[in-house]
Amino acid sequence: MNITLRQLQIFESVAQTESYTRAAEMLFMTQPAVSMQMKHLEESVGVALFDKQGKKIVITQAGQTLREHSKDIIERFEILQRSLMKLKKGQHETIKISAATTANHFVTHMMAEFSRLHPDMNITLDITNRETLVKQLQNYIPDFVIMGEPPGKLEIDSQLIMKNPLVVIASPEHPLARAPRQHPIPMTEILEEAFVVREEGSGTKAAIRKHFRKHRLNFISSYEMSSNESIKHAVVAGLGLGIVALHTIKLELEADKLVILNVENFPLERYWHLVTRKGKRLTPAAQAFQTFILESAESYQKSYQGFCTREVV
Ligand code: PGA
Repeated sequence: MNITLRQLQIFESVAQTESYTRAAEMLFMTQPAVSMQMKHLEESVGVALFDKQGKKIVITQAGQTLREHSKDIIERFEILQRSLMKLKKGQHETIKISAATTANHFVTHMMAEFSRLHPDMNITLDITNRETLVKQLQNYIPDFVIMGEPPGKLEIDSQLIMKNPLVVIASPEHPLARAPRQHPIPMTEILEEAFVVREEGSGTKAAIRKHFRKHRLNFISSYEMSSNESIKHAVVAGLGLGIVALHTIKLELEADKLVILNVENFPLERYWHLVTRKGKRLTPAAQAFQTFILESAESYQKSYQGFCTREVV
């Protein structure tokens, strides 16, 4: 069967008006063109769709059956057209973002701001650790990924968003916090303490290990947790020292629940990156959000960068 959508639209008009002439007027076609199209349609389906009763055209039972389906097909096609039009304009499009667990804090703020400006756009945010982000990039799943260190082995485009310093934190009751010093605490000295840090597979853990290795030291964590919130609670409760991204502890610093220790070679300088797979075509909505993140990063960074020097003990 070789039926075209145009034939179905003409068929629907003929069925509605019971006249080739009126259908032709409705569709701005000539009457012979309409009857020709109906002839082709009948040939394709192999049964008569209309009977001629004098001047009137009456739909046959086969025609009725076709009409039930053709109405549905035409409606669906119109819905498709409208959706494609919206997609073209970037409306009601879903932007798929995946972000490192630690990026949760600022990505959600940026999402809220972006949604106020573009209420028609939908965003799905998958928060997960670095290991999973790399797998998602491998499989072209998200539109883009926000992560610490871009993966070296994949074909990607990567843009720097902003700084992501890692700091050593302690409860204000911790002995190292209670005896502020003039000089930074040596890295070797803090290694004698218990540490609560992120889990294996996280970018934070990998960066910490690499940093200590660079200074010829072996970092061993006593406790590993998959969420920054849990690490903060554990450090506040006195389980040990922590190493976390600075922007995750704004509230705890303001409430004097945590302090940043002045440790040699800290803060650990890191950066956030916006990463896409090379060759992945971004929708207009995803492009708009990407631009928004890059533009608003600077003001977000300003909101926390003062802490590092102000609160260190
Ligand atoms: P993470 O990633 O949340 O997996 O630790 C953050 C990062 O790479 O800095």
